[in-house]
Parts: sequence; C-alpha cells; structure tokens
Amino acid sequence: MRGGAQRGLALGNLGLIENGAVLVQDGIIQEVGSSDAMLRKHPSEDKFDASGFVVLPGLVDPHTHAVWVGDRAREFEMRLQGKSYLEIMEAGGGIVSTVKAVRQSNVAQIVSESRSRLRTMFEHGTTTAEVKTGYGLSLDAELRLLEAILILDETEAIDLIPTFLGAHAVPPEFKNDVDGYTRLVCDEMLPGVKKWWQKNAGSRKLPFVDVFCETGAFNLAQSRRILETAKQLGFPLKIHADEFDNLGGASLAAELHAASADHLVVTSSSDIEALGNSETVAVSLPCTPFGLAEKEYSPAQEMLEKGVTLAIATDINPGTAWCENMQFAIALACRYLKLTPAQAIAAATINAAFAISQNQRVGSIEPGKQADLVLFDIPDYRHLGYRFGVNLAHTVIKKGKIYPIRGYDD
Ligand code: NIG
Ligand code: FE
Repeated sequence: MRGGAQRGLALGNLGLIENGAVLVQDGIIQEVGSSDAMLRKHPSEDKFDASGFVVLPGLVDPHTHAVWVGDRAREFEMRLQGKSYLEIMEAGGGIVSTVKAVRQSNVAQIVSESRSRLRTMFEHGTTTAEVKTGYGLSLDAELRLLEAILILDETEAIDLIPTFLGAHAVPPEFKNDVDGYTRLVCDEMLPGVKKWWQKNAGSRKLPFVDVFCETGAFNLAQSRRILETAKQLGFPLKIHADEFDNLGGASLAAELHAASADHLVVTSSSDIEALGNSETVAVSLPCTPFGLAEKEYSPAQEMLEKGVTLAIATDINPGTAWCENMQFAIALACRYLKLTPAQAIAAATINAAFAISQNQRVGSIEPGKQADLVLFDIPDYRHLGYRFGVNLAHTVIKKGKIYPIRGYDD
C-alpha cells in the first residue's frame, strides 16, 4: 500500500508482494521486497517466519468512542421493541445515559473499563485508533476522559489519537438551551482543553475537535460555530454528519478543511461533490447501521466515482455499535458498501491513517514507517471480508515487537 492515500476509484491498490519479506530495525521498516532477495542481502538478521500468512499493515481504526464506562444493553432491547435511537435519546437515554455513568467515575475506573476493549481491538489487528471523548459534556468530566486516553496510550501497545468531542450531545442541564451549551463549548471548554493539553500532554499535537451535527444534537450553525472556534484555536477538525438526517455537515467539513467527515449515510450528491473536491476523508462506519439494524449504508460507490478519499472505521461505542473488530467492518464494507476486499483493506489502513493525519507514520508497509504489521492466518488476502465472525489475526507486530495472538498451541 505504498504511495499515499488512495483517492476515489484508485482505492484498492495493494501492491501485493508474493513471498515477501520485511526488514525491521528499532521498530521502523527498513526494506520491503521478495524473501529470496532479502535473505541473500541480509543473511544473518534475526528472522520471524511468516510463511503461509498474509502480512498486512496494522489496521487503523479512525473513528472510535472506545473510552466509556457501563453499558446500554437495556436500550438495545428497547430498540428491538420498536423505539428508535433518536427517540431513546430524546427521552433522556442514549449518549446522556453513558454521560451520567462517566460523570460518576474517576479516571482509574474509566481506564480500567476501557483497557479491555483496547486490548480486544489490538488482538484483532488494530495497531492505531482514534478515540473520542464526548461522554463527559462538562469541562471537568471531558478532561477526565482525555486523561484516560493519554494514560491508555502510554500503557497499552495500541497507539491512540485523541479527539475532543465535547459537542457529542446536549447535557441534561442544557436540555432546552442548545445555544447556551454551544457557547459553553466555544467560550470555556475549547480554551480549557487547550490550556490543559499544553500543560499535560507534553509536546503532543493538539487533539482533533469533533461535533455531532445532527437533529437532536447540534444544528449546522452551532456545528459551524464550534468548529470555527476550534480552528481559530489551532485544533484540527472532524465532524459526525448525516448519520440520520442531512444537515449539510459534510460540506461544512470540506469548507473548513476538516481531516474527515464521518458516518455519511444520508449524504447528498452535492455534499459528496464537495468532499471529492477537498482533502477531507469520508469515514464510513458500516458497523453502525448494522448495529442499529438499519437498511441504509454510506453511498460509497458514488463517493468513489466522485473522487472522494474513503476510509472505514468501527465507531465502537456503547449505543450503536459495540464492535472492537475492524475485520468485521471490512466484511460489512464488502457487502453493504460494495467494496472489493482490496478496497476495504486500503480503506482500513492507508486511507484510515490519512483520516487521522497519521499517514506519514502508519497505514502501509514501506520504509521509514513504524513496523506495525498483522499476520493473518489466511491463504489469500480476500479471505478478509469473505470470512467474518472470528478473529483471523495470528500475530500482531507493533513497533517491531511481536505479540502472539492465536494459533500458537499446536
Ligand atoms: O457515532 N453518533 C453519535 N455518536 C455515536 C453514538 C454514541 C452513543 O450512542 O453512545 C456514533 O454512533
Ligand atoms: Fe461516532
């Protein structure tokens, strides 16, 4: 997958090497080529035998809400009994019920509940993931989530790219005053996050700022206000748009040079054109309509025809899609976005890395990049997508370190 992000119909160029080898030193890829040539050139290096496996770049999950506490199994049952996601949200459930749980938790509890999910993601081959806050909805509680993300990034093998999603929902204390909460986000939370970050995150780049632009959450004007304020403060941007209703969020993302616009189910042709003429990546989340048992998925084929850079992600969250597994997102993308396995794999690696501005570091197997690799126990890369419901990862290699996952007993 060398050569950068794959725009539009260029998606799916794997650059497959049969009987290949990768030379790694100090966690960085040095050389990629055929085994024969590499063994001749480097006869005495330590070897890890990957024969019989498909070796891919570590999967990149560019949209997750993986850090939360509690669960919403009761709501899942309510949806099956006929209530919609937006109805449950309107009645004080949904995101806000996870917010109540997070507000009562300290950083240690948030870290300990989230850790097992991040390990499961890693065991399924995700070596880098974006993670959003958004279950605190007050400066204090949001900062606890950011702190948990930084701790988990430090202590877990998976690399985490943080996003501040203070505008994920309207908290109960602002129920009838969305403009009031929007003002709080702009005037206090964004500057507060920036200040906290500069004090606590060392030299790390500022996190992304995201907003849920949707009926029942933030309208287009409020979303614009939040993103423009964030941009002025120097934050890179993302948006949740067109999950249920089309409010124009995707075009706003393109206009503001956001790194990505995500969900994009009911996206209009003109929004797709705006994305196609921009550097903003479209991140489709096929686990979400699947998780909600909805019929409609992103119009991926039109996106590719219009030159959009397409990525996929799990959207792992307690409400709509509790799925740690990018392999399953790939399987759904093949069926419902009609991507070929090669296209879905590129959308889950190099394009996903581009969606979180990590394409210089991860997303492909090429010299100079981090040695993040997954050995899949499959005879042909097309088995990813084709097969689903089990973990096909055999070994995960992160920054050159080898983590055995399964199939080591025999
Ligand atoms: O991406 N759409 C908003 N946020 C999440 C759902 C979060 C939740 O229900 O807890 C999503 O689907
Ligand atoms: Fe989301």
